[in-house]
Amino acid sequence: MENIQSLRGMKDIKEQEGELFNYFISNASQIASRYGFSYLETPILEETALFKRSVGESSDIVGKEMYQFIDKGENDVCLRPEGTAGVVRMFIQNKLDRAGGTRKYFYYGPMFRYERPQKGRLREFHQFGCESFGEASVYEDANIILMISEILKSVGIGYKLLINSLGCKECMPPYKAHLVTHLKDLHLCEDCDRRIVTNPIRVLDCKNESCKVELQNAPKITHNLCGDCNTDFEELKNILDMNGVQYEVDTNLVRGLDYYTKTAFEFVSDEIGSQSAIAGGGRYDRLTEFLGGRATPAVGFAIGIERLLELVKMPHNSEEIIYIGSMCEGASKTVFSQVAKKRKTHKVLTDYKVRSFTKHNENAKKQNATVIALIGDNELTNGTIWVKNIQTNEEMNLPIGEF
Ligand code: HAM
Repeated sequence: MENIQSLRGMKDIKEQEGELFNYFISNASQIASRYGFSYLETPILEETALFKRSVGESSDIVGKEMYQFIDKGENDVCLRPEGTAGVVRMFIQNKLDRAGGTRKYFYYGPMFRYERPQKGRLREFHQFGCESFGEASVYEDANIILMISEILKSVGIGYKLLINSLGCKECMPPYKAHLVTHLKDLHLCEDCDRRIVTNPIRVLDCKNESCKVELQNAPKITHNLCGDCNTDFEELKNILDMNGVQYEVDTNLVRGLDYYTKTAFEFVSDEIGSQSAIAGGGRYDRLTEFLGGRATPAVGFAIGIERLLELVKMPHNSEEIIYIGSMCEGASKTVFSQVAKKRKTHKVLTDYKVRSFTKHNENAKKQNATVIALIGDNELTNGTIWVKNIQTNEEMNLPIGEF
């Protein structure tokens, strides 16, 4: 019988990568808490309509990548392809849009997109995200960008920050009309021709080389912003400059989800192949209203954890890891109670089987222990424990009470 394998594009996060995953989540959570974000869980399964209305019918995500099905109660449901829509649904459902003030949440968990798997692109992947509600100031956009930089720096990742402004309901529609007039005369790929009708700004994002050449002289959104959006974008650049955050303005950065207004950004790395975006986000001031709530300015981002883990180097572990083992039947109970004692303050590894000195030493090294402690017949008789520091090779026999 053939063994059952995991589904294509879905992977186990295990061993060293599991440790890294855990390390990243606790680091990023601490930083998000310091920035005033509180932890939030929303369901992985939501009504399909939520994503259609927020991420947008014209997006690739809704158009072709959703894990959508009819459940046993005939509900049209979907495994979440991203986190923002569920957070906004939660915000409105709990009437937080009517409570006033600012609210900030962070979350992490699995997202599902039926894409063609390749390096850095999975069908089940994990995001760490933050959403901030009620703050219209561009200082919050800058604050969030600063937070992402801090999170990425905390795990030693190099990146490039790309920013753009996608305008608002005043300046985006006339810009789109202007863009469409320009695009109609160009020779573009089939996807672009379709997008001219569904969402023309997505044409700017086309990766096709011949389209890129055709699009060189396309009108730029940053030249077509209204007064308010222009002031905000200039202010954002100013704040980033003043705080030593380096960035590039990329007028072709339009994002793959339809809900953005004003600030949009991506953190990219050239070390992970063609799927270069490690994190993305921006402002979505109209989404709460669009989903039936009271108009609430909002801004957020999500980091792709698997892409990030490809770049993280495990920090040198200075933690003491103690391996304790028994070399004779009579010592097993003493070993067990020493393990319980040491575990209160240290990471402790053990092996319940009675093993030879050599075997225990091999085991301890394989598991990266820094200290090995063994009890055999002699130690048992003398009430001692043999202890060796694996890094310095220093060894001694200690009275058991002093261990
Ligand atoms: P997104 O750009 O679609 O934005 O995804 C954010 C990050 O998730 C990407 O930069 C990438 O690192 C990772 N990612 C996306 N798709 C995949 C995939 N198939 N495999 C592996 N990693 C992937 C959002 O999802 C928005 N909800 C972000 C946001 C929050 N905007 C405002 N608030």
